[in-house]
Amino acid sequence: MKALAINGSHRKGRNTAILLKAILDYLNENGVITELVELPDYTIKYCIACNKCLFESKCSIEDDDMNMLASKMMEAGVIIIGSPVYNGNVTSMLKTFMDRTRWMHMKQEMLAGKLGAIVTVAGLRNGGQEFTHEAIERFFASRHMQVVPVRDPESNIFNMGVMGTLFESLRDSEKGNKAKIIWKKSVKDDKLAMLTCQLLAKNILDELKNRAGR
Ligand SMILES: Cc1cc2nc3c(=O)[nH]c(=O)nc-3n(C[C@H](O)[C@H](O)[C@H](O)COP(=O)(O)O)c2cc1C
Repeated sequence: MKALAINGSHRKGRNTAILLKAILDYLNENGVITELVELPDYTIKYCIACNKCLFESKCSIEDDDMNMLASKMMEAGVIIIGSPVYNGNVTSMLKTFMDRTRWMHMKQEMLAGKLGAIVTVAGLRNGGQEFTHEAIERFFASRHMQVVPVRDPESNIFNMGVMGTLFESLRDSEKGNKAKIIWKKSVKDDKLAMLTCQLLAKNILDELKNRAGR
């Protein structure tokens, strides 16, 4: 079984990648083959809305990296998508990537039944993580994939995915009423986000075991 993580951040190796790697590391330690794809490493052209994929399960654009990335998705049993919040939504790079997978579901649902998991990171608390999360969840639903939530009955944590934030606190200014935001150095300092990465990975493993036992 292979788990593929797709990082929609325009910055490689930063906060979204940190959370995705935390999930992949846990899966890998438990026998799952893992791969992290960082979208800035690849050339992904815009969908040109030629609509040829309504009639044939292929994309008319063949001179970029999308077919290779599509093969990686086909090989994987688990697809984890991570996005920073950009203007309250997924990044433009991730949206372009999602648009270009349209041929994988118009004629035939080629990703149906795979497990999906969702990671978002925002600068602020309540910075748009939930809407961004829903955009990815809708993508998985449209592909007939099953989203694995974060749940831990023992700690009462339940969330539909990992939602990180860089906001730490507000420091009141000595001058006037202006407040200064204190940022976390990295999402590694977001204890809840790091814990939910572990819980999500554990939930993915449990679901894989359930499926193997069926
Ligand atoms: C173009 C752009 C738009 C952003 N919009 C938001 C936003 O709407 N809400 C928010 O809380 N943070 C916003 N941010 C901050 C990012 O979500 C945050 O820095 C995130 O950690 C970036 O992930 P990365 O470290 O993987 O690049 C924005 C950043 C950029 C570059």
